[in-house]
Amino acid sequence: MKEKILDYLDKGHDYVSGDQISRHLGISRQALWKHIQELKDLGYEILAIPHLGYRLQSCPDRLFAFEVSRNLHTKFTGKTIHYFDYLSSTMDLAMQLGMRSSAAGTLVLAESQTKGRGRLGRGWFSPKYKGIYFSLILRPEISPADSPILTTLAAVSITEAVKQNLGLESQIKWPNDLFMNKKKYAGILTEMNAEMDKINFVVMGAGINVNNDNKSLIAQSTSLKEQLGQAVNRVSLLQEILKKTEENYFLLRSKGNEAIINKCRSLSSTLGKRVKIYCRDKHIEGSAVDIDKDGGLLVRKETGLIQKVMSGDVIHCR
Ligand code: BTN
Repeated sequence: MKEKILDYLDKGHDYVSGDQISRHLGISRQALWKHIQELKDLGYEILAIPHLGYRLQSCPDRLFAFEVSRNLHTKFTGKTIHYFDYLSSTMDLAMQLGMRSSAAGTLVLAESQTKGRGRLGRGWFSPKYKGIYFSLILRPEISPADSPILTTLAAVSITEAVKQNLGLESQIKWPNDLFMNKKKYAGILTEMNAEMDKINFVVMGAGINVNNDNKSLIAQSTSLKEQLGQAVNRVSLLQEILKKTEENYFLLRSKGNEAIINKCRSLSSTLGKRVKIYCRDKHIEGSAVDIDKDGGLLVRKETGLIQKVMSGDVIHCR
């Protein structure tokens, strides 16, 4: 109902009479008043003038589920949203929901995380109201061996959404980091629950530095606000990410891995570079020549031999 009331009042419009809204939405004046109070409590600035009605002055910068679903025309991504002021990690809850048969497209969102996690046992700094921290449940009908393509799909989708929504170009540092002007602004973490030959579900997690100020960021990282020179509307960026993720998911289903890999090749900052890749206790050095159909990186070593790497910590040497 809050979603509908906000649609009706939408920012910038003039006063709307309470009578008109309650008739339009089929609720009583008391019920409307109660919803308006709740919206005010959430930080919406709504003016109420006798005989004139209500007017929406401003909206708080929050990723409320009803804001994210408002005008989100996706078929499945974000159809169910679990929103929290804080969580230990959106991954933990999404993994639990996945095990409890939550539908594909279910989104877990938090305004901050106390134990946000990154790849390779690292943490993910998740300050409140600054970033976008989400986990999306997917139930792809692909083999577990093909699951890295979903990390690629997430990287491509976020890069495309950032371009579409903010006009900013960014690059994918294989396999899961998003960079702008040589600094990292987002990372992806994909976890799955699978049997030998069947994926039960995948949780696609992403952390994006959106409105962080420069001084709060560690060296080599940046935020979209820093890059754009102004604050970013997190709701509309997240909606665009959900749309692009869904589009690319359907593309993957209809055209296969190559369609996603092709996009990734053209957005990659790793291809063509000399790289050092650390995987567990060894490292591989060579030129990054291609991304394979399942998302693996093909590295040509000094010997001329091509080695495929499925994961690791990559350093671009030049
Ligand atoms: C990385 O760069 O290593 C990946 C970072 C992924 C962070 C996101 S934030 C939302 C989701 N919840 C987590 O705990 N981690 C991912």
